[in-house]
Amino acid sequence: MRAASNPDRLSMYNQNRLKIGLFGANCSCGRAVTTVPERWSGTWPDNLRLARLADDAGIDFMLPIARWKSYGPRGDYQAATLETLTWATALLGATRRITVFGTVHAPLFNPIMAAKQMVTADHVGEGRFGLNLVVGWNEGEFEMFGVRQREHDLRYDYAQEWLDVVNLIWSPRENFDFEGKFLVHKGIRAHPKPFGGSRPIIMNAGASPVGRTFAIRNCDAFFTNVMGLSLEEQGVAVRKAQAEARSHGRELDVYTVGVITCRPSQKEAEDYYNYSISTEADWTSVDEILAAKHILADQMPPEQFQKMRRQQANGMGGLPLVGDPDRVAQQLAQLADAGLRGIGISFVNYLDELPYFCAEVLPRLARLGLRESQFRTSS
Ligand SMILES: Cc1cc2nc3c(=O)[nH]c(=O)nc-3n(C[C@H](O)[C@H](O)[C@H](O)COP(=O)(O)O)c2cc1C
Repeated sequence: MRAASNPDRLSMYNQNRLKIGLFGANCSCGRAVTTVPERWSGTWPDNLRLARLADDAGIDFMLPIARWKSYGPRGDYQAATLETLTWATALLGATRRITVFGTVHAPLFNPIMAAKQMVTADHVGEGRFGLNLVVGWNEGEFEMFGVRQREHDLRYDYAQEWLDVVNLIWSPRENFDFEGKFLVHKGIRAHPKPFGGSRPIIMNAGASPVGRTFAIRNCDAFFTNVMGLSLEEQGVAVRKAQAEARSHGRELDVYTVGVITCRPSQKEAEDYYNYSISTEADWTSVDEILAAKHILADQMPPEQFQKMRRQQANGMGGLPLVGDPDRVAQQLAQLADAGLRGIGISFVNYLDELPYFCAEVLPRLARLGLRESQFRTSS
């Protein structure tokens, strides 16, 4: 049986300096807002095949998106989504090495129920479950649940209490009451505790000042957007977040998200990127997503709005990593140079594109000392 200390969990049971995970595979279309026929199915058989492929290739984690309902009246993009805690539990049962996150909306899940579901997933995966805690932003989803969406900053006050309850449940404490501003629970008793005597990794991607502070105070992994920042600026952003975490007595890993288009030549990669994410972008869905975020054409100069549309089409704002294997490996290495601990990546079609990425880019990263060439686990 594997050991599962807190450092083991944070290292994802390997020595890879730059962690690489797959982001968004539980949703149809994944992260690419495109109409190309080969776009991602998001079905269970494809997710299972992908997880096994990623597990064998030494990919570090899988991060799903908790999406309950697609956007806007047409709703084509991410129209079919697999619920993430059940998805994670099943994938953990089918894999041996990879860390699998479940993404939980604090306002939609009773914390006692969620803590139990997550512990179950963690035992199935022998310490490989991770929590992505989100507060939600898609109003249509909340209306569907019949749950009132709180004012933005208050969402994080609620999430703090929610997480305090979950952390207490996961701690050795027994038979306790919780009385907060939002949550009141009597006689909490929960067994088993998380696997191996340590709690699951917790991540969050708060981007607003309040969301960011929440992430830095509570999380092991903070996902932040570094698009448009120079290498130097990325380094400053990472060090600033880590210094803030240390001022709260915590260590913090900083991650980002990106979209990979890797082909044998730079030209092929750029051509496919332009075809899938620009010429054949699903512009109707792009506009529906922007509208759900209250980003409208009449609020800004046309060129700025077009830029935002292009960013949404490309993995809803992920860093575009487009090129031949040398170029993609070099771009990933730069992220590590800036101090980033890892990246959640997506492809237009994960199963079609992951084998080439693993065969060509991972060995290059190993040669740069950023990844194990023959990955090891402590199990
Ligand atoms: C890597 C990553 C994963 C995210 N996953 C989800 C998700 O599954 N569901 C969701 O509603 N929001 C998700 N978000 C949105 C964030 O949790 C957050 O709400 C958003 O970045 C806006 O920040 P704010 O809440 O501080 O305003 C994700 C963002 C990132 C960058």
